[in-house]
Amino acid sequence: MKLKITGHTKVVGIYGDPVGHSVSPAMHNAAFEALGLGLVYVPFRVVAEPAGVLETAVAAIKALSMLGMNITIPHKERVIRCLDEVDEHAREVGAVNTVLNRNGVLVGCNTDGSGYMLSLREETGLTPKGKRVLVIGAGGAARAVLYSILASGSAEVFVANRTTDKAETLASEFGSRFKKAAIKAIELDREIINEHSANIDLLVNTTSLGMTGKGELDISLENLPERAVVSDIVYCPLETGLLKKARVRGLKTHNGLSMLVRQGAITFELWTGRKAPIEVMKKAALEALGGTFL
Ligand code: ATR
Repeated sequence: MKLKITGHTKVVGIYGDPVGHSVSPAMHNAAFEALGLGLVYVPFRVVAEPAGVLETAVAAIKALSMLGMNITIPHKERVIRCLDEVDEHAREVGAVNTVLNRNGVLVGCNTDGSGYMLSLREETGLTPKGKRVLVIGAGGAARAVLYSILASGSAEVFVANRTTDKAETLASEFGSRFKKAAIKAIELDREIINEHSANIDLLVNTTSLGMTGKGELDISLENLPERAVVSDIVYCPLETGLLKKARVRGLKTHNGLSMLVRQGAITFELWTGRKAPIEVMKKAALEALGGTFL
């Protein structure tokens, strides 16, 4: 079935900067077409400066009766104060990646953490309960991933970030929420990461490093144990420098595409109330990335 724009078509989309690389439009539009829904997904570049741009963009969701919106870098945390309501999970995470327009009431949700956990289990069989995890990054995506990892009962977590203060804030905030886990902020430094790697079960990159056009994460994986899984939420390219290093070392890897598809599927279900056509979404995302459907 082909997407048809009519007088009844409703709009959803994504607010972020950059958004040009996003495969969410291809993924969601393929799902809307497959189910014959009168919806279209549009990317909107919403810049961080000057102040007020995000607020105006969020007001437009209501003014234009859009069905909802995805929120991405760099707005996942800042968008919270622009919304009417934020569900309990997104409030606790401190970041929103999905907005629902419920009859003029804008509600913030977060599907990143659940999408991450589902895809990690599917692709690698790993569940973080009782495990030791090293998280790189302390932004909005890190919050969602870290929250879900802690909620599933990981034993010990290190958070490494370029801006160490942010890692410390995150460690202390989530440390008081999840008292059973030991959470510690460390410097994002090659030697320090190496020192903390010997007993790690899961290393996950939540920063934009490794994305096409950005720099690479300069860490060594040589001290990770053989059982360790290396995970990257970056999906463009599918195999980041980090994942390549892990593969060459013979470690199990988990790429960002499966998380993207899983979080997108949960968002799709929130927006439409319909079961997401996962395979259609995965195929469209892969095609948009220039890959082949495996
Ligand atoms: P998102 O919502 O996608 O997580 P974000 O909140 O802006 O986006 O967070 C981006 C993350 O990538 C942060 O951890 C950021 O580190 P800082 O807190 O120090 O800014 C990290 N990041 C981005 N560019 C980076 C770079 N060149 N080197 C190291 N870390 C980087």
